[in-house]
Amino acid sequence: MADSTTAERPSAGAAARPTGEPLIVLEHVDKHFGALHVLKDVSLTVHRGEVVVVIGPSGSGKSTLCRTINRLETIDSGTITLDGKPLPAEGRDLARLRADVGMVFQSFNLFAHKTVLENVTLGQVKAKKVRPAEARATAMEILDRVGVADQAAKLPAQLSGGQQQRVAIARALAMKPQALLFDEPTSALDPEMINEVLDVMVGLARDGMTMVVVTHEMGFARRAAHRVVFMDAGQIVEDADPETFFTAPRSERARDFLSKILTH
Ligand SMILES: Nc1ncnc2c1ncn2[C@@H]1O[C@H](COP(=O)(O)OP(=O)(O)OP(=O)(O)O)[C@@H](O)[C@H]1O
Ligand SMILES: [Mg+2]
Repeated sequence: MADSTTAERPSAGAAARPTGEPLIVLEHVDKHFGALHVLKDVSLTVHRGEVVVVIGPSGSGKSTLCRTINRLETIDSGTITLDGKPLPAEGRDLARLRADVGMVFQSFNLFAHKTVLENVTLGQVKAKKVRPAEARATAMEILDRVGVADQAAKLPAQLSGGQQQRVAIARALAMKPQALLFDEPTSALDPEMINEVLDVMVGLARDGMTMVVVTHEMGFARRAAHRVVFMDAGQIVEDADPETFFTAPRSERARDFLSKILTH
């Protein structure tokens, strides 16, 4: 794997720009669910400002990989560090990790009985001890940035799926994260709402947010990703810039996978 920390990647199209030092580093990570070996000796470095798209067949371990990075799942062996420090196991430090590495899920996961504004305010007040007035001001600013400021007083169920997902992104952003993880953020959305979420994500990528994105949206990968990581059966099989990956995948497994998703 090319690992020079400031390499320009001209072939990565619009996303080409230098990225920073290693921020998220997985080394020789193994994970089992019972007898099932779901992550097999996975090593991955995500640099500050880098956008890494993770793709692969169902069950290949993409969600599990994401979830280990903010410790929603523990690992059996290997190491994961954030900004040079091992992930904390519990308590206050774990709460800080979850703020530092925000996660956006397929199913939005908003608090159903809280307004949009409360959803984006609560974490700041509880986990980061921001004063409520300041937290609300930050929340409104970020809601405006993702285009849903006018929905602030509503409950999540009163919003479209695309709007709810943008609120979920706003909630993660309000914690001023060092990195964001996205696990198929547009898979539950109707087609007309997919782009409004992807556009927000492309904007974040352009602004230099470090992102790990599990998605089969190849347009997003081409527009915003610095690297595409292809997983199969718990292993990282390829790790390449999008242009190289999509035009000249090295492995038979990646070629086979691409032929299936690109014909849809
Ligand atoms: N909590 C769990 N307990 C037991 N097995 C699990 C658990 N979570 C995931 N698995 C299994 O681990 C493997 C990897 O799952 P994972 O959800 O990471 O795959 P994925 O690549 O995200 O798949 P998909 O594209 O369907 O979302 C699968 O075989 C899955 O059934
Ligand atoms: Mg998954």
